[in-house]
Amino acid sequence: MSRKPVIAGNWKMNKTVAEAKAFFNEFLSQIDVDDPEVVVCPTYTSIAAAVECTKGTNVGIGAQNIYFEDGGAYTGEVTADMIKEAGCEYVIIGHSERRQYFAETDEGVNKKTIKALEKGLVPIVCVGETLEEREDDNTFDVIKTQVEKAMKDVNEPKKVIIAYEPVWAIGTGKTATDEQANEVCEYIRKLLVEIFDKDIADCMRILYGGSVNAGNVKKLMSMSDIDGALVGGASLKADFVTLVNYKK
Ligand code: 13P
Repeated sequence: MSRKPVIAGNWKMNKTVAEAKAFFNEFLSQIDVDDPEVVVCPTYTSIAAAVECTKGTNVGIGAQNIYFEDGGAYTGEVTADMIKEAGCEYVIIGHSERRQYFAETDEGVNKKTIKALEKGLVPIVCVGETLEEREDDNTFDVIKTQVEKAMKDVNEPKKVIIAYEPVWAIGTGKTATDEQANEVCEYIRKLLVEIFDKDIADCMRILYGGSVNAGNVKKLMSMSDIDGALVGGASLKADFVTLVNYKK
């Protein structure tokens, strides 16, 4: 089963429009492969500029969140239609920072995933355990709950990308070992077989995220159930291109 690898950058709350343009100027001049699939997720304010800069390239743009309603009195929120209109093809959903700081729930993640698919966006659904949960041997239970709840009533599962991001590995420089990362990604695929079926699960891309960098990406990408990387810190500089070109 061949799944197209994905290297996605999550800029989090970083970069002004000017900084985003400067990044793409340098980054795009060094991109020369159309495999893997490359995604960059800037802040809402830089989406239009990012879409403009990447027109005609193989770099897709994503948002870092959406709200699940189609509009209305939800101060500060943005709809799926709005980011689609702005040129996004992807959206990150349920990132641990949103779960941790903005009270994002599994139910909300599920509604957002369904809304993203309904509007033709590719949802990148994040799951992952905290350090405490791992130390208490609860990793698999936590992942099971998060994946099952996120995928409830999802009717186009093949389009969904799942990102396994252990919270303890995010921004800490502490990457999961290749085996630790793959063990959970493999478990996620087993869950997807149970929730959907084997054919579907075999098509779905599962990414690893958490301190991925130029030094560890190649090994991570060689693991059986890791189909890509969701990259934070190392996606902020134009040498993110070295991760994109991990095969070289
Ligand atoms: P870092 O790569 O900075 O650890 O962040 C990972 C992440 O949260 C990507 O969404």
